[in-house]
Amino acid sequence: MLTSANKLKLAVFGFNGGAAFTNHPDRYVPTWESNVRIAQMADRLGIEGAISASRWKAFGRDGHYSGDLFETFTWAAGIAASTKRLCVMSTVHLSVIHPIIAARASATVDLISKGRHGLNLVCGWYPDEMGMFGSEMGDHEDRYALAEEWVPLFDRLWKEEQSFDFSGKFYNLKKAIIQPKSPFPRPVLMNAGGSERGREFAANNVDVAFIVPQDPRPEALKKQVDFYRTFAREKYGKEIKVWMSCYVVQRNSVQEARDYVQDYVVNHGDEEGLDSFISNNIGNAKNVPEGAMQQMRFAIAAGYGGYPLLGTAEDISSTLSSISDAGVEGVLLTWLDYEGGLKNFGDTVLPLLEQAGLRVPAEPLPV
Ligand SMILES: Cc1cc2nc3c(=O)[nH]c(=O)nc-3n(C[C@H](O)[C@H](O)[C@H](O)COP(=O)(O)O)c2cc1C
Repeated sequence: MLTSANKLKLAVFGFNGGAAFTNHPDRYVPTWESNVRIAQMADRLGIEGAISASRWKAFGRDGHYSGDLFETFTWAAGIAASTKRLCVMSTVHLSVIHPIIAARASATVDLISKGRHGLNLVCGWYPDEMGMFGSEMGDHEDRYALAEEWVPLFDRLWKEEQSFDFSGKFYNLKKAIIQPKSPFPRPVLMNAGGSERGREFAANNVDVAFIVPQDPRPEALKKQVDFYRTFAREKYGKEIKVWMSCYVVQRNSVQEARDYVQDYVVNHGDEEGLDSFISNNIGNAKNVPEGAMQQMRFAIAAGYGGYPLLGTAEDISSTLSSISDAGVEGVLLTWLDYEGGLKNFGDTVLPLLEQAGLRVPAEPLPV
């Protein structure tokens, strides 16, 4: 569960689809069987979460592998039934999933998992995937305004025993209710708003915010984390948890790891998928300082825009320690090869994180 006592919490991210843009032969293939194996391995290792990514349409062209990504509520139901203690998170595009559908599906996954469901709320940024639903995507402000209406509705549907009416700018509900209810508290909510508007939304509405480090040096990262937390506390009286996303390449040295990333991102690069991702994401890319664009492009190809964890188990554990020292409470992990990568991480990095006092060894799974 995300509420474990570990100082640095961990989650495997995006294995319902895959996190890298590459044509390298090691690229992960998301079959249902591989999803279950990864989730069960993470569960055994005591990793706190399994977090899906959500996408409705491939980048580049129809049939491109970036569209092969399991739908996130049905995925969560299957993963919940296959695991014992992981928090299973569905990423949800708020504008296309009505709060009644989301609350009902979430209560169902929560009943299957006995209170282990969570939601990563996203507002959408890819016009073609939103266009498939027959509506314009709306501007950035409107998307977050919809999100501000969506969350309290989800909350009320989760908790209230009596049906209720609601009339707002985006939703008009008559005698709304969901049954069966989950007896557990409202699922943990996450969001990765990178803009100021996104930060406002996250600070006011969710439990966990993902940040993208603007400057990876430890003191700059600490400043960014402190700023987020203080902002949520002072403006909304909320205690928000701050997490970030990392891609892992574990090799015999940092140089070997760098060479491998260079090989899959550049030598076996998928310019078609990457160009499409970047050109569609240009609204978000505007927030990126001049010169950082190439770096962002590389990180997106390498592992969903995450921060690099490269080198030996010692290198990776030491980078995670400095991330934790900066105040980050949890890290999402991706690999090019999730299965081999997670196994290696479990065998060699987790024991070092335990020695460093960031985690305790996993208890055996309950039977
Ligand atoms: C760790 C992480 C995971 C994300 N997952 C998704 C996702 O699965 N689907 C999606 O459409 N956007 C996803 N996003 C994009 C964010 O929802 C958001 O659009 C982006 O961070 C820009 O922030 P803004 O909306 O405040 O401009 C993710 C971003 C991050 C940093």
